[in-house]
Amino acid sequence: MIGIYLLIAAVTLIYVYLKWTFSYWERKGFPSAGARIPFGVLESVSKGKRSFGMAIYDLYNATKGSVVGMYLTLRPALLIRDAQLAHDVLVKDFSSFHDRGVYVDEENDPISAGLFSLEGSSWKNMRTKLSPSFTSGKLKAMFETSDAVGDKLVAHLNTLLPQSGSKEVELKELMATYAVDIIASTIFGLDVDSFADPNNVFLGISKKINRNTFTDVVRGTSSFLYPGLEKIFVRLGWKQDAIEAMRELSSHTVDLREKNNIVRKDMLQLLLQLRNQGKISTDDSVWTAENSKQGLKSMSKDLIAGQLLLFYAAGFETTASTTSFTLFELSQNPEALAKAKEDVREAIERNGGKLNYDAIQDMKYLEACVLETARKYPALPILNRICTEDYAVPDSKLVIQKGTPIVISLIGMHRDGEYFPDPLSYQPERYLDENKDFKQAAYMPFGEGPRHCIGARMGKVNVKLALAKVLSNFNVEITSEKREIEFGPHGVTLMAAGGVPVRISRKQ
Ligand code: HEM
Repeated sequence: MIGIYLLIAAVTLIYVYLKWTFSYWERKGFPSAGARIPFGVLESVSKGKRSFGMAIYDLYNATKGSVVGMYLTLRPALLIRDAQLAHDVLVKDFSSFHDRGVYVDEENDPISAGLFSLEGSSWKNMRTKLSPSFTSGKLKAMFETSDAVGDKLVAHLNTLLPQSGSKEVELKELMATYAVDIIASTIFGLDVDSFADPNNVFLGISKKINRNTFTDVVRGTSSFLYPGLEKIFVRLGWKQDAIEAMRELSSHTVDLREKNNIVRKDMLQLLLQLRNQGKISTDDSVWTAENSKQGLKSMSKDLIAGQLLLFYAAGFETTASTTSFTLFELSQNPEALAKAKEDVREAIERNGGKLNYDAIQDMKYLEACVLETARKYPALPILNRICTEDYAVPDSKLVIQKGTPIVISLIGMHRDGEYFPDPLSYQPERYLDENKDFKQAAYMPFGEGPRHCIGARMGKVNVKLALAKVLSNFNVEITSEKREIEFGPHGVTLMAAGGVPVRISRKQ
């Protein structure tokens, strides 16, 4: 009998707790939506129908007003729908929203302390230290390495295409291979050729990172929504294959470089400079990293691995998807395609017939294409912050409480007709000086404010390089039927459900 009473008491307690949790926004006086127990707005994600970013996009489209309270499973979070308010949160009022609130444990688990997750002054210090790695001078020095990967892309495409006539090429996979090799070489300093050798170590690790197993989903969700729980998992010694493999690879490469005084022009070299000399040189011609003060190791090997892992995660899908979606759009927009090809041709001609770093910078129309792709297909479909100090929403009586997760739907704003006229049409002209026809505050494909993407310049160079290689060596065929990409139900980044098919032929 006592068992039945206990059961009834437990069920009642759970019921009251859930009702209380899912009435948070009502109690705070905020407009809200999607209070479905137990997944809230993530119900479609739990059923495997939508990715996280697309579930938030659905909510963006189904609601009105500048803010909407929602539930990310049991966690109340706030969706910001108004572009100006989003801009204020990211820029003007950054001091109340300076962290992302995801799992990080700098002291006990330094590999978790990537720039994306770090908080407060630790983030600020690391951001200041890493910034000199992303200057245009450093990127220019690394360009030769990227260019070699671009040549492998061209060689591989040549093996896929028939001598005459065209072939439909699946670009998602192709550009993912390009992006993996770009990261392996410019960030980790590894000489891999994933086009020729699909079994290389780096590609193996990258496949581990991009799996979608039950364990990966649980750990991803806990890192993002329940950082306290993730801390427990880590303390209990529940290891993740991909992180362990990356730790090992990074440690091995650091040892190899330090023991043999190897100097290469890549991100790892700059992190070694930071480790051994306390800072990254602002002189773009200095790449050596030997110890300046006896025994100085200002960054542990795990902390280095944490940054490398993050650069991989942040740069891989973003580069691959932005490149493939651009070619997909160009294949449907003959005028834009013709202008992009001409732009590439002229820029190469102006730079002594070479596709070098300066030529890439010179391709203004191609840049506008990349910006338009990044609008219609923001590689990261959401931005997130956590409220770090109670915040009064301007022109309202609403107060966002410290500890509240904030989500901005980038794809929602970027495809909102109120901000971008005719949002589904592909118009690179929007970004050419005289033509800006959109609300600037709503456009933030690389984020905004002090925590915007530190690798934006690098990402754009690598995307433009792949595009310029394809446009100058092959013909992208125009398709007559208009198609829209369907997005898949997995992943943090915006991914096409099937492939990204584009018809390509050799230049005769
Ligand atoms: C087309 C390519 C890329 C796109 C579209 C992109 C987009 C973004 C976005 C939207 C954010 C969040 C910004 C915010 O919250 O305000 C971000 C952050 C970040 N990205 Fe990128 N990214 C790209 C390439 C790269 C590359 C190549 C790297 C590094 C090698 C990189 C490193 C980072 C880092 C470290 C952060 C966190 C910055 C911080 O918290 O201080 N990204 N990126």
